[in-house]
Amino acid sequence: MASFLATPREWPRVLTGHVDALAANPADLDAAVRAGAFDGLRKAVRDLGATGTIATIAASGLRGRGGAGMPTGAKWRAASAQPADQRYVVGNGYGADPAVHTDHALLSSDPYAVIEGLVVAAFATGATQAILAVRADDAALVTMLEGAVLAAEEAGFAGEDVLGTGHAVYLAVRPVQGAYMLGEETVLLKALEGKRGQPEQMPPYPTERGLFDRPTVVNSIQTLAAVPWICREGGSAYAAIGAKASPGTALVQLRGPAGGGIAEVPLGTPLRDLVKLAGGPGPRPLKAVLVGGPTGGLLPAELLDTPYEFDALRSAGAHVGSGSVVIADDRTCVVDLARLLTRFSADNACGKSIPCRIGLRRLYEIGDRIAGGRPKPTDATLLGDLAHDITASGLCDHERLATLPFTSGMRYFRSEIDDHILRSTCPAGVCQPIAVAAGAAHRDPA
Ligand SMILES: Cc1cc2nc3c(=O)[nH]c(=O)nc-3n(C[C@H](O)[C@H](O)[C@H](O)COP(=O)(O)O)c2cc1C
Ligand code: SF4
Repeated sequence: MASFLATPREWPRVLTGHVDALAANPADLDAAVRAGAFDGLRKAVRDLGATGTIATIAASGLRGRGGAGMPTGAKWRAASAQPADQRYVVGNGYGADPAVHTDHALLSSDPYAVIEGLVVAAFATGATQAILAVRADDAALVTMLEGAVLAAEEAGFAGEDVLGTGHAVYLAVRPVQGAYMLGEETVLLKALEGKRGQPEQMPPYPTERGLFDRPTVVNSIQTLAAVPWICREGGSAYAAIGAKASPGTALVQLRGPAGGGIAEVPLGTPLRDLVKLAGGPGPRPLKAVLVGGPTGGLLPAELLDTPYEFDALRSAGAHVGSGSVVIADDRTCVVDLARLLTRFSADNACGKSIPCRIGLRRLYEIGDRIAGGRPKPTDATLLGDLAHDITASGLCDHERLATLPFTSGMRYFRSEIDDHILRSTCPAGVCQPIAVAAGAAHRDPA
């Protein structure tokens, strides 16, 4: 079972509230029910009804934790409004960022929160099939989840007659395995159809044409795990937590020179407090915080008061992304870090759109020659122009986001980039003529 970092007592525990009760055995359904599991489902099917459940989720302001922060209520409403003989709900538990283990932590410490969220989403949108897509590499976790699903069905929380209402919601755990892009929803849906996939142009969105061309809600498992709490406590109670336009809590994967771990934090918490949770900057001065994973933005120490929430991070040049927050001290070179992150993104781009496929590689190559002591005097301009051109097109979000390490680097650390280009100096003392390691794809960039 995963352990979570201790957080201040006053911080609400929406996602990890049952973890202590399930510490001995996360799949113990009786213990979960004693702790309040499936009370939200009861409320949804008995009191709220399908329309009322969607209205409650909309009123809560819940935004998708898969990275982009799409309003969950609107997504559910869109799927339920589509005429269809069959609808699906898919819990995205792929966890594409290799350095982030929040999905695994959630599933392995409280599987019933995700299962309950899936059943509520299916009930609300009129789907009879709900699929939990998880990484195949942890066979023990897959087996545990299959057991938990079976136990929930046998207890009447899922299956052909949910809580005696006559509504059927059949659950399936589907292990999937692939590269980074498999976390993207249209690729995941193809994989669930048994096909190889590349991102699809949207619209049409999965809510219109998703799994097997039927209306499909794809939600991050973290989004789904918040649903039972919202149904139980009410939309306005959830809306009162966190930031006004980004309510609720989120799991973050913290990492820094002094430690780290996974914590549930209210959205809107200043980055400064997240740094503290990770044990502080460590013995050396903090230089930057990388927020959002391999496609994240590098924010300088002066921006530590930035609230960790969708809109403020986007304005600052970062994003919630995979939920990763990495503290970098003064031994970190911005050019070196940005080029490694960009290489990860270039190596993992599926190649379907040329600006992404070629552009990210060119961006990486420019960073590589700057870090390698072979810059051209115009490289800073080139970096900016290229990042802009790449951002302007693109079939999926990967292309737009993958430029953030360099665009944020140019925005906040321009003098350090100029030191490399114009003065042949790396202030952090990291860059020397560098031989690029072969086979760096899929390396853990953080
Ligand atoms: C390259 C890429 C990787 C992604 N990886 C994940 C992932 O691992 N887990 C996830 O929930 N969403 C991931 N997403 C976002 C999904 O496409 C989708 O927006 C999300 O699952 C929707 O759920 P939400 O509305 O609850 O956020 C990824 C997107 C992109 C572009
Ligand atoms: S933007 Fe990049 S990752 Fe997304 S579909 Fe195009 S090539 Fe693939």
